Amino acid sequence: MEIYENFILTEHNTFGINVRSKYFTEIFSIKDIKELVKSKEFLGSNTLILGGGSNILFTKDYDGLVINNKIKGKKILSEDHEFITLQIGAGENWHELVMFCVDKGWGGIENLSLIPGNTGTAPMQNIGAYGVEIKETFVDLEAFEISTGKILKFNNSQCKFGYRESVFKNEKKNQFIILSITLKLHKKPKINIGYGDVINVLKSNNIDNPTIKDVSNAIIAIRQSKLPDPKEIGNCGSFFKNPIIAVSHLNIILKKFPEIVYYPINKKEVKIAAGWLIDKAGWKGKTFKNYGVHKKQALVLVNYGNAKGSDLFELSEKIIVDIKEKFDITLEREVNII
Ligand code: FAD
Ligand code: EPU
Repeated sequence: MEIYENFILTEHNTFGINVRSKYFTEIFSIKDIKELVKSKEFLGSNTLILGGGSNILFTKDYDGLVINNKIKGKKILSEDHEFITLQIGAGENWHELVMFCVDKGWGGIENLSLIPGNTGTAPMQNIGAYGVEIKETFVDLEAFEISTGKILKFNNSQCKFGYRESVFKNEKKNQFIILSITLKLHKKPKINIGYGDVINVLKSNNIDNPTIKDVSNAIIAIRQSKLPDPKEIGNCGSFFKNPIIAVSHLNIILKKFPEIVYYPINKKEVKIAAGWLIDKAGWKGKTFKNYGVHKKQALVLVNYGNAKGSDLFELSEKIIVDIKEKFDITLEREVNII
């Protein structure tokens, strides 16, 4: 196992921010981790676990050890005529896993097609898209506890999944290295096309009885039309979460902005489309030197080349202040700030 010094992270974060870490290493197995935790670089430094770098904004160099998770492998744990239980190494690419399952006809994660990043990171924020969250197929995960060296299991309820939330973003933050996750997938998939434009895209392709492959293809097409490809324009997807507010608050906003986009959650709360708020406030497409707000999706901040992470962070601060002033709503960042 090699530990590199003064390592350039530009290729390791989808914002493409040009920062360095004091140390950098890759782990391919639990054996690697056990060796790593004895090293002087690990013992004397702060540590940061990095997957695909698609939900992280580096605002400065990282003065510590970055551990890039590359633990691979897929293993069938059990199988019957209805379900298959699959354990996947944390370092597997998420979208490749989705494609693998879709090709096998195993349903449950096809709506999560084309989300960048690692499989082991997916539970961190309970990734979600097009009406599905990973918590719906998630069985458990194995994680290495940094302080004790123990490998612990967390089942679905212990992960405390919420909208873009889990225990690993909150009370267990920075304490564990997720090693693998286990999903339970359907061999007789239930199709979920109730969200957004999915049904319209299928209809326009004359598909009446879609397979999970059709659903995946439709979602990939929608995503490609809306979201910038990080290989072309640096970004981390939605920079903010969609805020959840009280219905009483919504009713006040509706008087001034009857066209506001929102989704009912329960009798008392609604989720507001943050993209709509930022767009309405006039930020969509705004460009400052080499960074800005994406022209097609106001929820996505972008690096057009050589932007500083601190510039993007300051832009996000300005947006938060402006949205608070205009709508009395406090936006929360989805992206992890370093
Ligand atoms: P990283 O950015 O590497 O890490 C994110 C956080 O997890 C960091 O705090 C890191 O320290 C921690 N971490 C990483 N790996 C581990 C581990 N093994 N153990 C412990 N901690 C770890 N997200 C959605 O939910 N839905 C979407 O539709 C969506 N669309 C996106 C579209 C684009 C174009 C982009 C760029 C991003 C999008 N995202 C979306 C966000 C992102 O892809 C997900 O959050 C993804 O799960 C991040 O994975 P990663 O491996 O890249 O995480
Ligand atoms: N909208 C605007 N202007 C904009 C952008 C959006 O008015 O510039 C309005 C539109 O009316 C649109 C609505 O907002 O109908 C919602 O937009 P969109 O369908 O693009 O979804 P989103 O709420 O912006 C969320 C997730 C995405 C996920 C999609 C699809 C969050 C924070 N974001 O985006 O996740 O892929 O739904 O399910 O929940 C991510 O987390 O990184 C991410 C990309």
